[in-house]
Amino acid sequence: MPRLLFRDGLTAPHAARMQTFWYNKKVKQEKRTSEGGWILKENTEKTFYEMIGGEETIRKIVETFYPKVQADPLLAPLFPEDIRPVMEKQFMFLTQFCGGPRLYSDTYGPPMMRARHLPFEITKERADAWLDCMQRTLEEIGMAPELRELMMHKLRGPAYHFVNS
Ligand code: HEM
Repeated sequence: MPRLLFRDGLTAPHAARMQTFWYNKKVKQEKRTSEGGWILKENTEKTFYEMIGGEETIRKIVETFYPKVQADPLLAPLFPEDIRPVMEKQFMFLTQFCGGPRLYSDTYGPPMMRARHLPFEITKERADAWLDCMQRTLEEIGMAPELRELMMHKLRGPAYHFVNS
C-alpha cells in the first residue's frame, strides 16, 4: 500500500496526534515537485470512508467486532442476546462517523451518543475493553496500520466520553 500523504505533507499518525478532524472531509493527496517544493494537486480526493474501503469495510468491522464484544466478560452483559439490531445501528453510525452517507441520522435523528449510552453502566474498564475489541477487529480485517491508527484515534475520544460510572 502506498504511503498516504495528507494536507501539508502530514502522514496519518501525525495528523491524528495533532487532533485534527479534517479526515472526515474530502482531502487531497498532494505531492511536492522536484524543483520548487510546491504542491501538486492530484485528482485523488477521498473521504476517510472511501480510503478505508467504504461499505464493505464497515460491514466487516461490525461483523468482526460484535462477536468479540459478546465474548468479553465485561461487555457481554450489557448487550441483548439478539445482537443483530445493534450491529445494524452500528453499521449505519460508523458509516457516517467515517464520512460516508448519513445513514444513522437520517433514520434515528441526531446521534447524541453519550445520551444514548447513559442507560448503561460504562466504566473506564469497559471503555478500555470496547477499544481493545475494536483494535483487534481492525487488525484482523487487515486495515492498513496508518488508517487503523486514525480510526482508533477517532473512537478513543467518544469511548472515554461515554464513561458514566
Ligand atoms: C465505551 C464503551 C462502550 C460501551 C460499553 C458501549 C455499549 C453499548 C450498549 C450497551 C449499547 C446498547 C445496545 C442495545 O441496544 O441494547 C450501545 C449502543 C451503541 N453504541 Fe456503544 N458502547 C461503547 C462505546 C461506543 C462507541 C465508542 C461508539 C461509537 C463512537 C458506540 C456506538 C454505539 C451505537 C451507534 C449504538 C446504537 C445506538 C442506538 O441505539 O441507536 N459505542 N453501546
